Amino acid sequence: MRESPAVNATSPVRKAVIPAAGFGTRFLPATKAQAKEMLPIVDKPVIQYIVEEAVAAGIDDILIITGFTKRSIEDHFDRQFELEQALAESGKDAQLAEVVDLADLADIHFVRQGERLGLGHAISVARKHVGDNPFVVMLGDEFMSPRADLLAKMIRTHAQYGRSVLALQEVEPEEISRYGCAKPERISDGLVQILDIVEKPQVSEAPSNLAVMGRYVFTPEIFDKLEHVEPGVGGEIQLTDAIAMLLADQAVYGVTFDDGRYDTGTIPAYLETIVDLALERDDLRDDFAAYLRSALDRHGFA
Ligand code: G1P
Repeated sequence: MRESPAVNATSPVRKAVIPAAGFGTRFLPATKAQAKEMLPIVDKPVIQYIVEEAVAAGIDDILIITGFTKRSIEDHFDRQFELEQALAESGKDAQLAEVVDLADLADIHFVRQGERLGLGHAISVARKHVGDNPFVVMLGDEFMSPRADLLAKMIRTHAQYGRSVLALQEVEPEEISRYGCAKPERISDGLVQILDIVEKPQVSEAPSNLAVMGRYVFTPEIFDKLEHVEPGVGGEIQLTDAIAMLLADQAVYGVTFDDGRYDTGTIPAYLETIVDLALERDDLRDDFAAYLRSALDRHGFA
């Protein structure tokens, strides 16, 4: 039976969990010795965009679930005194401020996943750190433009209903089998209640073309469900299956959006994101646009 929408007081969302333990096989050999979350988009690694997105939404405690490539992520958010000294001595004040500020962005913690049993398992590793609090999950393959304000909207929805909230975006029907897919019931513009959810369905079995994108606000009850969920698609412990179990006890909401997502999960998407962000940069836009035009011309696309 569906739980009626609840309005209850909830503690503020302060913690985010970022799973970053995947092998990044789509980007080999670039990801042989470093995390795919450290791949650069223009001049920042993907994970820095994600951490900045979290901070902009009011998160100040971030747990990164890592594997053996954790070193470079940890170093990235730490002080680096030799570099700072070199920048100070050569008068590069702007760069110096930038690297120092990075270490003060948020409290960033690390825990290793150990066995790689799937996304749901990676999130379950965060239980001790998160405790009995609501928390955000941000997947490492994508980040959202500040103009979308998506995470803050999701956190406001959580504050209103006291329940879990997922980010949903419409995709082409043939793409739905790459995502978690939600069966929605409209509440208002941009807000639905989720009636059912299924991981990577065949097009013919998909309950809608609303895909779960990599942003979630969870009530802590998700951890109980993760403990009981059986391996699903690909033999992995799926977060989506734990959400389906949670639905039986608690309402789960979806915030829909249609703009501002930067995908970095595949090589074509990664290249598109670099081009988009370079064209959004005042200091790069004009020269880069001129270069793109000439490159298209040279390669016979004009
Ligand atoms: C994961 C989730 C899926 C979600 C997707 C968003 O899949 O399991 O439900 O829609 O992220 O990017 P993955 O991309 O890890 O296969």
